[in-house]
Amino acid sequence: MLDEKLEELLQDMSIEEKVGQLVQLDGSYFEEDALITGNMAKNGEGRNFPIFLAGSTLGLSGAKDLKKIQKDQMERHPHHIPMLFMLDVIHGYRTVFPCPLGQGASFQPKLVKECAEVAAREAAVSGIHVVFSPMADLVRDARWGRVMESTGEDSYLNGIMAKAMVKGYQGKNPGDKMKVGACVKHFAGYGAPVAGREYYNVELSEYTMREYYLPAYKKAVEAGCEMVMSAFHTWNGIPCSGNRWLLEDILRKEMNFKGVLISDWGAVSEMTAHGFCENNKVAARTAIEAGLDIDMCANAYAEYLVDLIKNGEVEIKLLDHAVMRVLRLKNRLGLFENPYKDADSEGEMRVILCDEHRDKAREAVRKSMVLLKNEEVHNEKALPLKNEKIAFIGPYVKNEDMDSSWAVNGDPRDQISIQDAALERWSEGEVFFARGCTLLDNKTTGAKYFYEENDEYFETKNQSLLEEAMETAKKADTVVLCLGEHRLQSGEASSRAQIKLPKIQLNLLNNIAWTGIKIITLIFSGRPLELEEVLKYSNAVFMVWMPGTEGGHGIMDVLVGDHNPSGKLPMSIPYNGGQLPISYDQYSTGRPRMGLQKGEYTTGYLDVPNEPLFSFGYGLSYTDFEISKPYISSVYMRQNESIKVSAKVKNTGDRQGTETLQLYIQDMTASRVRPLRQLKGFCQVELKPGEEKEVLFDITEEMLSFHRADGTYGSEAGLFKVWINNSSNVGEGVIFELKEGKNGNVQRREYA
Ligand code: GLC
Repeated sequence: MLDEKLEELLQDMSIEEKVGQLVQLDGSYFEEDALITGNMAKNGEGRNFPIFLAGSTLGLSGAKDLKKIQKDQMERHPHHIPMLFMLDVIHGYRTVFPCPLGQGASFQPKLVKECAEVAAREAAVSGIHVVFSPMADLVRDARWGRVMESTGEDSYLNGIMAKAMVKGYQGKNPGDKMKVGACVKHFAGYGAPVAGREYYNVELSEYTMREYYLPAYKKAVEAGCEMVMSAFHTWNGIPCSGNRWLLEDILRKEMNFKGVLISDWGAVSEMTAHGFCENNKVAARTAIEAGLDIDMCANAYAEYLVDLIKNGEVEIKLLDHAVMRVLRLKNRLGLFENPYKDADSEGEMRVILCDEHRDKAREAVRKSMVLLKNEEVHNEKALPLKNEKIAFIGPYVKNEDMDSSWAVNGDPRDQISIQDAALERWSEGEVFFARGCTLLDNKTTGAKYFYEENDEYFETKNQSLLEEAMETAKKADTVVLCLGEHRLQSGEASSRAQIKLPKIQLNLLNNIAWTGIKIITLIFSGRPLELEEVLKYSNAVFMVWMPGTEGGHGIMDVLVGDHNPSGKLPMSIPYNGGQLPISYDQYSTGRPRMGLQKGEYTTGYLDVPNEPLFSFGYGLSYTDFEISKPYISSVYMRQNESIKVSAKVKNTGDRQGTETLQLYIQDMTASRVRPLRQLKGFCQVELKPGEEKEVLFDITEEMLSFHRADGTYGSEAGLFKVWINNSSNVGEGVIFELKEGKNGNVQRREYA
C-alpha cells in the first residue's frame, strides 16, 4: 500500500482504533474458546477495550489457527487492519539450534545467519510475522540466567552476530517470502544487572553503556532490524521503558532507528512496581511520551491511552506517530495485500524439521562445541574416540531435554540424544549406557521447580543409578560423562548465586574417576559453570551448551573425529563464581599483578588468579596450530590511513582443522584507560596437515576509536599494541604509533 494511503487510513481511524494498534494481547485472548468480539475480560478483570481492535498478539503459532484468527479479527475491525503475529524464536522455531551462546562460540556469522534463515522459514510458514530475536545484550556475569540467550561478553562479536541474525531473519525485505521481521532486545544493557540478579537495577555510566553495551544493538539497527524491545530493568534508577533519553534521543535520534519500539512483557505497568509511576495511567503516559509504540501485555495503553488522548493529557501527534510506525511495519510485511503472508499448512509439513534444516542444526552443533581439555592417555590424545569400548554415562545420555528454556516450539521428542546417535554407530554390546544419576538432586536450589519427588526418592533412586553406572563403567575402556545444568536453570528468571554442577553429578564423576578409567566429560549448559573438579578428573572436556534438536548427532560427529572441533569461548569461564562479573578485556590498574608474588600489594584476589580459568576466544582442536608473531606494514599510522597486520598460521598436527585467528588491539595510553586487549576482528582458516597460510587485517582508525574523556568519539595519538592469535590471552604483540592528525578526528588527549 502506498504511504499516502496509510496516511489516509490513519486519518480515518478513531482514537480507539489507533490505540488498538499499540496494544499487544497475549495469545490466550485468541485461543479457541476466546471471544474475539468481547472486551478484554480475563481473570475476572473487566476491561473496556474490545479485543478485535488489538494490533498484535504473541505466543501463538500454526498456519491454520493464525489464518482463522486473522480472518476473524479483520472481519470485525472497522478498517479491517491485519494483526501482527509475534513469537519468541530465539534459536530456532521447531528445528532448535544450539542456544545463542553456543552459536556465538562458532565465530561463524555466516552459519548463524543460515540458522536464522531456517528459523525464519519455519516461523513464517507457521504464520509468524515478527520474531523476538536477536538478543544483543552484552553479558559478563554467568550468575545471570539469560547469558544463554546472548552471543557473549564481547560487544564486537555480539554486533557481528546480531547483524547476521537480522539478515538471516529479514533477508533484503521482511515482506519477502519466508522472511520475518526481527526484534533486537533488550534495550538497553539488560545483561549487566547488579549481582547478576534477574530484573535488577543496571548501574552503568553513560561512558560504559556507550562504549560496551550499546554497540551490538546499534549493529542490529544498522542492519535494518524492524523492531526494538525495551527492557524490564532500571538503568541508573530509570526504567528503560519510560526513559525518553534512552528511547528517543539515543535510539531514535542518534542511532536513527525508524522502526517500531515494543516494551517487554508487562514492562509498562511494572514502572509502578519499580516506584517510578504512581499508577498504570501515569505509566501509560510516561511510556508513550518516552517513545514506546507497543505495550506488550501490560494493558496500560488499553486501559488509559484513549482517555489520556481525549482529555488532552497526551498529544494526539504522539499517538499518530506511533500508530504510523506500526502501520508501516505491517505494510513492509505486505500484510495489507496478503494478511496471511506465508502461513501455509502444507508448507509446514514440507518445511518444518526437513532434512536440510536438521543438517544445518547438526552442523551448528559441531561448530558450537568448545574443546577445553584433551590430554594424552597412554601416549595418545583422549579424543577423538578410537576403536575402544565406550560407556556413555550421565543424565544427558538419554533422559534430558537438550533444548534451552527459550525453545518455545521445540519438542524433546524431535531430539537425537547421545544414546540415539551412539546406536547409529555402534551396535548393542559394543557400547554401553547408564543414566548415572538424576540431573538435579533435592539439594539443588530450585530442584523443586523441576521434580515433584521427595528426598527419599532422590536417595534411593540415585543409589541404584550409581550402582548401575559403576557396573556399566567396568565393561568399558572409556567413559563419556554427559553432565550439566537443567534446561530451566538458565534463561529468564534463572539467576544462580552459585554456578556449580549439582553435587549428585559431581558424586557420579568422583566415583567413576575412582576406577581409573579414561573419562571424557561433556557439559550441557546455558552458562559457564565452575569446572575445576570436572577438569581434575577428566582427560578431556567439551562445553556443548544447550545443543538443541540435533545435539546427539553433532556431538557424536565430533567425538569420533568425523569433524574436528573449532569452537571458541564467547564467554570466559571463571575459576569460581566469586570472580563474576569477569571478561577478558580487563584494565591494567595502577598495580598490575605480574604473576602471583608473596606479599605484594597488587590488584587481585588472595585465593584465585585475576584471569578466568578459560578466557574468551579459547578453544582446542584435534590438531595443532603454530601462529607467528604479527608482522606490521608500518610502525606509524596516519590520520585517515590504515596499516596492515598479518600473521602466518601453520597446521603442525596430523589432521585437517579450522583455526580462528583473532585480532586484538590495546590503546596503551589514552584519556580514559583502555582495556589490555580488545577484539577488533577475526577470521577462520582451514588447513590441511603441514599447510600454512597468512592472514591479513587492515587496522583502521575506527578500530582505534572510543568515547574519549571529553565526550567526543574518535582516536587519540599514541602507541598501540596489536596481536593476532587464537585466544584473548596468548601471544606476542607488536607496537605501532598513531600520529596526530591536523584536521581530523585523531587528536591529542584531552583530560576531562
Ligand atoms: C519475556 C522476555 C522477552 C520475550 C518477551 C515475550 O519476558 O523478557 O525476551 O521476548 O517476554 O515473550
